[in-house]
Amino acid sequence: MAGKLYGIGVGPGDPGLLTLRAKEILDGCGIIAYPVRKLGEGSTAFDIIKQVVDVSEKSVEEFLFDMNPDDSVRERCREEAMEKMCMLLDNGEDIAMVTLGDAGVYSTYMYIDAEIRSRGYETEVIPGIPSFCHGAALAGVPLMIGNEGLAVVPVAKENTALLRDALRNFDNVVVMKAFKSMPLIAETMDEFGIPREGATVVSNVGMEGEYIGPMDDDRKYGYFTTVIIKKNKGGREI
Ligand SMILES: C[S@@+](CC[C@H](N)C(=O)[O-])C[C@H]1O[C@@H](n2cnc3c(N)ncnc32)[C@H](O)[C@@H]1O
Repeated sequence: MAGKLYGIGVGPGDPGLLTLRAKEILDGCGIIAYPVRKLGEGSTAFDIIKQVVDVSEKSVEEFLFDMNPDDSVRERCREEAMEKMCMLLDNGEDIAMVTLGDAGVYSTYMYIDAEIRSRGYETEVIPGIPSFCHGAALAGVPLMIGNEGLAVVPVAKENTALLRDALRNFDNVVVMKAFKSMPLIAETMDEFGIPREGATVVSNVGMEGEYIGPMDDDRKYGYFTTVIIKKNKGGREI
């Protein structure tokens, strides 16, 4: 019988936030896997789980998804990764593929899941705690309350179109992939008349260098940075 692929959300950083279900599956699978863009680059999700799961007897597999600008190189690489995964599943191995936060929130895992399913294999997603949920909890702010809504948007490559739509239509906005775009986010908030106190930066949540606090123009933010904007906090209602 073919094995099964599990996509496991491991939470944003603190291994204590791994769910019991995730731990049970990680303990039971012979193969722990993660996608990489370069061989040997490692995985933050794997670094999280190995603090609480004994991986010494397990096989750890990297699956290469090259981001080469050449479509044919990318496609060949993806096909090789899929073939290797299918071979392991055909051998009856269960694979636990770990992913940061939740698998449904901007994760490569969901592409892999769809592809493996389309090839006739069984898959299962184990949800994890998304980074912005842990960040909001640490900051002591509700993500939404009463009849409010919440939008989750990325701000990458100078594109603020989604952020603008979100600020126009929602009381609360979570901005992901924010690390290079802090000045742009601040400018967009100014444009909408949202005071700076309305933003809380949650960076490296549950990891070394954790920062939970206001936007600080002098601070350098790393990749694991998210901003929670509450339009009605610290200012007039708009
Ligand atoms: C590719 S997405 C992965 C999101 C992840 N699946 C989740 O559920 O949070 C990467 C973005 O998630 C956010 N992120 C992930 N881990 C984080 C952490 N520990 N602290 C703050 N933000 C984090 C950042 O906005 C980062 O740029």
